[in-house]
Amino acid sequence: MDTDRTISARGVTKVYHTGDVTVNALDGVDFDLFRGEIVVLLGPSGSGKSTLLNIIGGLDAPSGGQVFFNGNELTQFDDRALTDYRRHHVGFVFQFYNLIPSLTARENVSLVTEIARKPMTPEDALALVGLEDRLDHFPSQLSGGEQQRVAIARAIAKRPAILLCDEPTGALTVVRASSCWRRWRQ
Ligand SMILES: Nc1ncnc2c1ncn2[C@@H]1O[C@H](COP(=O)(O)OP(=O)(O)OP(=O)(O)O)[C@@H](O)[C@H]1O
Ligand SMILES: [Mg+2]
Repeated sequence: MDTDRTISARGVTKVYHTGDVTVNALDGVDFDLFRGEIVVLLGPSGSGKSTLLNIIGGLDAPSGGQVFFNGNELTQFDDRALTDYRRHHVGFVFQFYNLIPSLTARENVSLVTEIARKPMTPEDALALVGLEDRLDHFPSQLSGGEQQRVAIARAIAKRPAILLCDEPTGALTVVRASSCWRRWRQ
């Protein structure tokens, strides 16, 4: 397989059964992501964007099909390999932030940097998103956009091979959002 191909999906399906309702959230998805590429996934609400990102990020398993990371089949990984993949290779900005309410901004980022191989410091990551003056604030003491920026800092702090962002700028102004991404890419 092409070594610049970081993620490949082949025939990925996801079916949810809830009571009598069956939802085909993904129905045979094929695509490739290459090293250095920035890809934007657009689709209406409920079209399966979060479902697909969760599967690529190793947070959920598909109902069918295959996903590859650097040529290795993610969908065959055992729990230990999946944990390693998530810990060392994937940065994930969740749609609903998933910050821990009882931890400060700095501590939320530290949770990731303490187990990463070559992380930034939490202070540097938070400075990249303009939050150097909010290190000791708890999520409830931050605005929605600031909480979203803590979630971005947490994802970039481990310098992941893949950054998966689920609507990462919904609570940010356009200027703030573009400045976060520009700094991350430097
Ligand atoms: N855990 C679940 N159990 C049952 N159905 C689910 C589950 N998660 C998602 N779905 C359904 O799967 C479909 C895809 O959901 P998903 O969250 O991937 O959409 P989305 O494109 O991210 O939407 P949005 O833009 O609103 O965030 C939706 O119709 C949703 O109702
Ligand atoms: Mg979503």
